[in-house]
Amino acid sequence: MKSLLIVVLVVAVEVRSAIIREGVEIPTYSVPCKRTDPNINDCILKGLRAFIAAVAKDGVKEIGVPPLDPFYMPELLTIYKNRDMQASVLLKNIFTHGAMNAEIKAIRSDFSNPQKIIIEADTHSPEMFSEGTYKMEGKVGNFVLNGRGVYNVTMYNIDDTVHVELKVVEIDGEEFLKVTKVMVDPEIGDMKMYASNLVNGNPELSKIANQFANQFWKLFYKEMMPIAQENVDKISKSLINKALLTIPYNQLLPPN
Ligand SMILES: *[C@@H]1O[C@H](CO)[C@@H](O)[C@H](O)[C@H]1NC(C)=O
Repeated sequence: MKSLLIVVLVVAVEVRSAIIREGVEIPTYSVPCKRTDPNINDCILKGLRAFIAAVAKDGVKEIGVPPLDPFYMPELLTIYKNRDMQASVLLKNIFTHGAMNAEIKAIRSDFSNPQKIIIEADTHSPEMFSEGTYKMEGKVGNFVLNGRGVYNVTMYNIDDTVHVELKVVEIDGEEFLKVTKVMVDPEIGDMKMYASNLVNGNPELSKIANQFANQFWKLFYKEMMPIAQENVDKISKSLINKALLTIPYNQLLPPN
């Protein structure tokens, strides 16, 4: 879910430079930020806000940016294993709502090393909602979990710092930015979740399992965080890099 913000973060930086590699022109959302601008962080912040407001609903086809709200993912497979518990969860047809109401509160950036450019965004999101279908196979102790059905998750008051690392790469004699790392570390105020048929064919146990999950989500959440972070890194890197390769660095963020 956090990947939405990251996509928005880096993509917005580039869209201000209007002309992309194949000579296709796309709308500008604000004035391009110069790398030497002493207020570059404010400039990026303004650009991002303008970009989100403008494209969240429809995306930007020309540079491969999908709609961000809702954000669609065809599927996501997560496998988890520790001493007491193992689970494989396949989510499908995932729609995530809420990116438009997310607020970027502050930007920090460091462009001094072209091999390790850092952009960080502090974000707050009042509510994110995700729904789709799921299939789960697993075990908690001796208790077998086998469920498939529909699910939804609502998260409230998400505070995050999105840390993005990029490097300058040269392609056909021209410089582009490439994301090498995306790190999120969200703190979530509250979470409500629901999954139908969580314990296959047993409505009573399914109900108990749902209650249990809602009561103890903080424990699961901590355990699952490293996997979620890995997913965010993988998904957002591939999305952002596809877009970044369409606009030369010099147009994205002019040197001066
Ligand atoms: C999640 O799904 C359940 C069961 O269909 C439903 O009762 C609940 O309203 C849904 N939650 C949201 C926030 O839509």
